[in-house]
Amino acid sequence: MTEANFRKADHPIHALFLERWSPRAFTGEAMPEAELMTLLEAARWAPSSYNSQPWRFIYAIKDTPHWSKLLGLLNEFNQSWAKHAGVIIILVSSETMLPPGADKPIPAYSHSLDAGAAWAQLALQAAVSGWQAHGMVGFDIPRAATELGVPTGWRVEAAIAVGRKGDKSLLPEGLQAREHPSPRKPLAEIAFEGGFEG
Ligand SMILES: Cc1cc2nc3c(=O)[nH]c(=O)nc-3n(C[C@H](O)[C@H](O)[C@H](O)COP(=O)(O)O)c2cc1C
Repeated sequence: MTEANFRKADHPIHALFLERWSPRAFTGEAMPEAELMTLLEAARWAPSSYNSQPWRFIYAIKDTPHWSKLLGLLNEFNQSWAKHAGVIIILVSSETMLPPGADKPIPAYSHSLDAGAAWAQLALQAAVSGWQAHGMVGFDIPRAATELGVPTGWRVEAAIAVGRKGDKSLLPEGLQAREHPSPRKPLAEIAFEGGFEG
């Protein structure tokens, strides 16, 4: 039984949604490029407004020339565990889009939402493929934009560490206690029929 099996859904869903979680104990195995492409391919098929596909992924596989640059963007806490991930990805999205038939770009209302859909597909594919993806906002976003050459008009959304899950004993004691899949709010607290109920 995987640790994820301790999570229980209140309504029938595919087991994959419970099996995806965000561990910090990674084995240090570098992700083979072909497997990374599978994750990015899953992300590529995400839905987006006007099929604008505003997402971009900047990645560095562990121990390749760009690895230390991307790892170095993370805050100290995230570096302490993400250094054992197999790849780090920075997710960026375009703040503008070119609607069909238009000749100039317009502001994109949903670029972050669309990028979030792509991240979710990547994370679910990682779980299917025997890896786990851990999203992060704990990184130096302005420095990421500069060091990765992100143009004006693009938003740096998140960093993602993908790794082969290892035993929690790989982590320092404080983090071992937090190394388990987390629960969720009840559906009644987040879904309302007919109008918002605070
Ligand atoms: C956009 C985003 C940013 C996050 N930032 C961090 C982070 O900086 N450091 C960290 O350890 N976890 C981070 N997390 C992980 C969340 O804490 C985690 O997804 C959440 O607690 C739910 O747990 P689960 O993914 O295991 O189901 C982030 C997750 C997302 C989606």
